[in-house]
Amino acid sequence: MDELLIEGGMPLCGDIEVSGSKNAALPILFSSILLDTPVTFHNVPRLRDIATTNAMLGLLGRPARFTDDENHSVRVENGVLTEEAPYDLVKTMRASVLVLGPLLSRLGVAKVALPGGCAIGARPVEQHTRALEKMGARMELDSGYIIGRCKRLRGADIAFDFPTVGGTEHLIMAAVLADGESVLRNCAREPEITDLANFLNSCGAKISGQGTDTIHIQGVSSLRGTEYSIMPDRVEAGTFLAAAAITGGRCNIINCPVEDLSAVITKMEEMGAGFTEHTRGITVFCRETLRGVDMTTSPYPGFPTDMQAQLMSLMSLARGSSTVEETIFENRFMHVPELTRMGADIRLSGSRAVIRGVENLVAAPVMASDLRASASLVLAGLAAKGQTRVQRIYHLDRGYEHIERKLEKAGARIRRI
Ligand code: EPU
Repeated sequence: MDELLIEGGMPLCGDIEVSGSKNAALPILFSSILLDTPVTFHNVPRLRDIATTNAMLGLLGRPARFTDDENHSVRVENGVLTEEAPYDLVKTMRASVLVLGPLLSRLGVAKVALPGGCAIGARPVEQHTRALEKMGARMELDSGYIIGRCKRLRGADIAFDFPTVGGTEHLIMAAVLADGESVLRNCAREPEITDLANFLNSCGAKISGQGTDTIHIQGVSSLRGTEYSIMPDRVEAGTFLAAAAITGGRCNIINCPVEDLSAVITKMEEMGAGFTEHTRGITVFCRETLRGVDMTTSPYPGFPTDMQAQLMSLMSLARGSSTVEETIFENRFMHVPELTRMGADIRLSGSRAVIRGVENLVAAPVMASDLRASASLVLAGLAAKGQTRVQRIYHLDRGYEHIERKLEKAGARIRRI
């Protein structure tokens, strides 16, 4: 199994390029089930989750593969759709449940394994299935599979109990080919949802209000494929901002979606990091010891839960104390015991962490538990004295494209073994 060896203490310096967004690419690739023509996507990150998505699309009758390395292009071909998304694939990537709505919409039947929980929480999908029922689908659970049936999905007025990213994406996909108009209320407003809606609109869908909490969708009879470029990954970009800051370096984060990272940049400024925006992205620099801050995760445009672990690594080395309140996932503190092994002073109490900044982190062998926890350990390793060994980095490979190559280019002493 691959591991990362990191020799800490080198200030990062130079350009780091941001890849396409994983969390935008997954629903957008799945939404190609709704098209009856081939479609080409650019700026798709080469990640394990994308490989899983392409495999799933192939099984469902829409063969998908990378066609051009330079532009990170994926071509999804036409084919005969099938209705079953098997457990073996769904269990490796929960976002696969998003094929349920598109399959129902196209075939009137879908059989999709119910995803289980994962390291960060139970992650149920009842908001998705309840909303699909409001659109006329009948749902049953049989041997671990959600089986949905309908004559045709019809437009509906749906209010989510709370903003759910996947739920909002799922219902947009279900509604674009449905009969009549749908209104989705209390929607999540994450930029990846806007990217999905923009892609579908470029294929002929009629979606408005994306990026706000109320989305209107007028059903259309068909969608035709175009070429579409996936937005840059704001969490990967945010991780690089944190990497430059934690090492006291200066980096140009190329293609950084600055506006989408507003909450992260504001919080890092409060900690003492400096930023200069330019046409290619943003430069981040950090000349002084960071200051402790208080932070609460919340749906967009609030501070993203996907950057919580990385910020906690910064807080571990900041002057004074910091607090983190995690409000999105019930178990997203798996990085805490590992950071503690590296000398961080963190006390946990339910959904709250109190971090007292220490002078130094000290290298240790640590174990990655989920994607963003892994990123926080890499950050800690970049700053720590000595050689940090990050194990189980297959989590990292789900969401960061060649992270060690990108960091090495900016002067990090990091290698994969
Ligand atoms: N939830 C329910 N019922 C539902 C749906 C959600 O209880 O039917 C709960 C979840 O368990 C969670 C909260 O609501 O506690 C928010 O979940 P949401 O549906 O918004 O998240 P998601 O769609 O499952 C996406 C990202 C996550 C990111 C969250 C929050 C993708 C593929 N995943 O998950 O990304 O943390 O939104 O922003 O887009 C990551 O990239 O590391 C990652 C975990």
